[in-house]
Amino acid sequence: MSDVAGKTVVLAVTGSIAAYKVVELARRLTQQGAAVEVVMTQSAQEFVTPLTFQALTYRPVITNMFGLEENAAGHVALGERADVVVVAPATAHTIAKLAHGEADDVIGTTVLATRAPVIVAPAMNRYMYANLATQDNLAVLRRRGVHVVDPEEGALASGAVGPGRLAPIERIEAAIRDVLARSESLEGRHVVVTAGPTHEAIDPVRYIANRSSGKFGYAIADAARRAGARVTLISGPTALLPVLGVSFVSVSTAAEMRDAVLATLPDADAVVMAAAVADYRVANPSGQKIKKLGRAVDLRLEENADILSEVGRRRKQGALIIGFKAETGDPIRAAEQLLRDKKPDLVVANDVAVGFGGDQTEIAIVSPDGVERMAPMSKTEAATHLVAIIAARIGR
Ligand SMILES: Cc1cc2nc3c(=O)[nH]c(=O)nc-3n(C[C@H](O)[C@H](O)[C@H](O)COP(=O)(O)O)c2cc1C
Repeated sequence: MSDVAGKTVVLAVTGSIAAYKVVELARRLTQQGAAVEVVMTQSAQEFVTPLTFQALTYRPVITNMFGLEENAAGHVALGERADVVVVAPATAHTIAKLAHGEADDVIGTTVLATRAPVIVAPAMNRYMYANLATQDNLAVLRRRGVHVVDPEEGALASGAVGPGRLAPIERIEAAIRDVLARSESLEGRHVVVTAGPTHEAIDPVRYIANRSSGKFGYAIADAARRAGARVTLISGPTALLPVLGVSFVSVSTAAEMRDAVLATLPDADAVVMAAAVADYRVANPSGQKIKKLGRAVDLRLEENADILSEVGRRRKQGALIIGFKAETGDPIRAAEQLLRDKKPDLVVANDVAVGFGGDQTEIAIVSPDGVERMAPMSKTEAATHLVAIIAARIGR
């Protein structure tokens, strides 16, 4: 992982009681040789004084865009020279402002003007965090490629317990190192990701599907894009918006998924098969809506082609193939079996009881070298980890 030494880290501090915690983050990054430029909102200064940050970073703290001496464009200069912008702690209010692109303070102008990666670490009361307004705003930011360091469960300042507590400084620091290290690790590589369920028609209005949300695949596509890859996301029907900056192929059935994946193979450096593709399709889907007949109806299913095996055989030389195994029971053993049968390079195993549909996942990465079990984490974080593994194998 790259060092933070010599990098410009813009640390935007907002009006949360957790502001005192990022004093330590500023100190640690400065000690490691980063130029830490602290920006504070008006409310943040109610909790910690600019002097505290100034004394620890050896730099003036920016609190007012109109007081900048720099030059005529001082309000955006910081964003332009940042290697990473970190909003921590991020209040519900600042998250809402960023989601709407508001620019009435230096944090707003900096985030709008920067081309560097942006990290947001929310901290707030659990109900403020759970409120759909906050969740929608975070979803908007994620979709734009902002890296959200999810808050943790735990005792909040109010004494209540719940998600909303600022992630530990170590996790925010790891996210900073991660985005700095990853920003070019897959430059020049083409990563193909499949995501979501497939729909197998029964008749023109009914279909057989599964509970895959597509969230993990979309998070992987986004993480690969942030690592500099050219990304093709081939997605079955989901409720998610396409990932910005990623070439998007929409499919419905397993057969369409197969065709779309095979078409990318001559040019794919990695194929990440996160979609939950139907194993079976209806043998004779009806052209007309099936009427209620007052008796049982039999559906005959026939097996779909196995995309992973075919991809393994037809891959470009040196291309990395990653299969997924979502299972009940023992997903790791099932992943090991998949590895033997279909010979992908890696298999991501997950228990459907944990990962399917939600935002959290608990995966294990199974390869011929062994099994790496990962702690429970958000799909965004797991995707970042997986992309780091891909970059280690095929990156520059
Ligand atoms: C004691 C106290 C603690 C607060 N803690 C938080 C917090 O942890 N998270 C949050 O979103 N807002 C918190 N607020 C409310 C924000 O300070 C308020 O919404 C403010 O307008 C945020 O402005 P800013 O985002 O520009 O910093 C707190 C307010 C008070 C009085």
